[in-house]
Amino acid sequence: MGMSIDNSAARRNAWSSYWANGALHSCAGSFAGNYAGAIADFWRPLFERLQPGDRMLDIATGNGALPMLAWEQSRLEGDISIDAVDLAAVAPAWHDPGEHAAIRFHPGVPMERLPFPGQSFDLVVSQYGLEYGQWPEALRECLRVCGASGTAAFILHHAGSVLVKVGRCELDNQRLLLAPDGLVQAAREVLPWADLARSGGIGPAQEGEARRCKDAYNLAMRQVGESIEAGGVPDLLLEARTWIHALVFGSGGSNAASRLSRLDAYRDALLTAMVRTDEMVSHALQEQALGDMVATLRQIRPRADVSCRVIEQSEGVLGWGVVVAS
Ligand SMILES: C[S@@+](CC[C@H](N)C(=O)[O-])C[C@H]1O[C@@H](n2cnc3c(N)ncnc32)[C@H](O)[C@@H]1O
Repeated sequence: MGMSIDNSAARRNAWSSYWANGALHSCAGSFAGNYAGAIADFWRPLFERLQPGDRMLDIATGNGALPMLAWEQSRLEGDISIDAVDLAAVAPAWHDPGEHAAIRFHPGVPMERLPFPGQSFDLVVSQYGLEYGQWPEALRECLRVCGASGTAAFILHHAGSVLVKVGRCELDNQRLLLAPDGLVQAAREVLPWADLARSGGIGPAQEGEARRCKDAYNLAMRQVGESIEAGGVPDLLLEARTWIHALVFGSGGSNAASRLSRLDAYRDALLTAMVRTDEMVSHALQEQALGDMVATLRQIRPRADVSCRVIEQSEGVLGWGVVVAS
């Protein structure tokens, strides 16, 4: 169950570069600002219950959306202390060590091995984070560091949520663009010919190869067009089609080599995004897997009250909410 932490370098790097770009949370395309609505409603009673001097831990914090929400909702500000860990190299730009001295970020920390003594925290939380780790180790660690009278609460990806449905469409789009015969590779191959054609430099001996590359490019463009027509979530494809076409056929004064390196940077960014989307889709929990997680929590802390529910609002299902209370 859960992922293998041995093969984590690509995933860690994918998240590190995402967080370094400054997004506050991992659904930046879906929610503006911090989480609001049903998600903020899930957290509010937990954060409002924090007492002066209480310690909170956020696991898989990303750019600290939850510490920020707790800071805003608890109204205790400096009177609570928040530690926030992530396997990735997180260092949120909003975090001002002067103003937020009570919040400490710990990059490079796997949830399966938390560097805190037992019973260190009154509230242990994770949002779209715990399911990315390896169980039961991560669950055991959460409850080890959570005090006997403390609470642990998680929001987890739901396999039927709107976020995961969008993620599946995104993944199809990313795969289409990055396929061996997809638009990115076809653009790479046709770009030098486009420049040669413009300068009238394609000799008779090269015409066949130039034509083959142009046909492959047109075919890839047509496939992208068909996917856009088919509906789903076409934003990425619309953007890619326009940007790539302008790069290939409008030199904009830059030579083929520098445009090819921009295309390679685009391909790398797409690959990184694909790793993240794939992670979300593959770690989203079906009801059965959630049941296993709840059973494991009950086994680890038999006297706790473990409750779970679906979190949803007008857009549809957003995730599972799990609370482990003493
Ligand atoms: C979907 S993001 C959640 C970010 C944040 N909690 C939020 O709500 O915006 C998942 C995070 O889990 C982190 N992660 C994945 N595996 C992990 C592990 N084994 N230990 C700690 N963090 C992990 C990733 O680096 C990533 O930042």
